[in-house]
Amino acid sequence: MIVTLSDGCAGDLEAVMQVMTDAFGDRYGEAWTRSQCAGILPMSGVRFVLARDGDDQLVGFSLYRTIIDDAELLLLAVGPQAQRRGVGQSLIKHFVEDAKNRGASRIHLEVRDGNPAVRLYEAMGFVQSNRRRNYYRGRDGSKHDALTFMLSET
Ligand SMILES: CC(C)(COP(=O)(O)OP(=O)(O)OC[C@H]1O[C@@H](n2cnc3c(N)ncnc32)[C@H](O)[C@@H]1OP(=O)(O)O)[C@@H](O)C(=O)NCCC(=O)NCCS
Repeated sequence: MIVTLSDGCAGDLEAVMQVMTDAFGDRYGEAWTRSQCAGILPMSGVRFVLARDGDDQLVGFSLYRTIIDDAELLLLAVGPQAQRRGVGQSLIKHFVEDAKNRGASRIHLEVRDGNPAVRLYEAMGFVQSNRRRNYYRGRDGSKHDALTFMLSET
């Protein structure tokens, strides 16, 4: 799918929250709340990137933060109807290029152990570097590890 990427702002949060809810569900406690998103947007180095389809509909987004030489992908989501069509890959490529342009040499992210997104991150050159035990708490009280992935070429 051909998408257009652009910077988002607080005014886009309603549409973003819809994509977030549709993409993550509430099973594992990975999605952020609207107030968590609104709280981080004004912080320095935070970028919010929106992916829109040819009809200008929001189909996905990324949220990341670059501080000096460190860049972290905080959130990545693509609406279920647009998944497996290259949108996630476009958003990660943009994150990595932007992070490098801003001087980041440590490019990383965290993901729930068992999330199929791991395959996408590995395909994009990220390698697992750490495990945080019981980081996510599911709706049913189950606990899930977080895996840290670093871009290997940096
Ligand atoms: C993870 C996510 C962002 C991927 O977005 P996407 O647009 O579907 O990904 P892409 O189409 O760019 O995938 C590119 C490649 O990554 C791999 N991949 C992506 N999603 C995959 C999945 N669910 N299972 C297995 N491989 C997957 C595949 O190799 C895929 O290529 P292919 O479709 O030709 O086989 C999307 O599934 C999503 O929003 N999931 C819910 C939210 C989430 O878990 N976000 C990540 C944690 S922050």
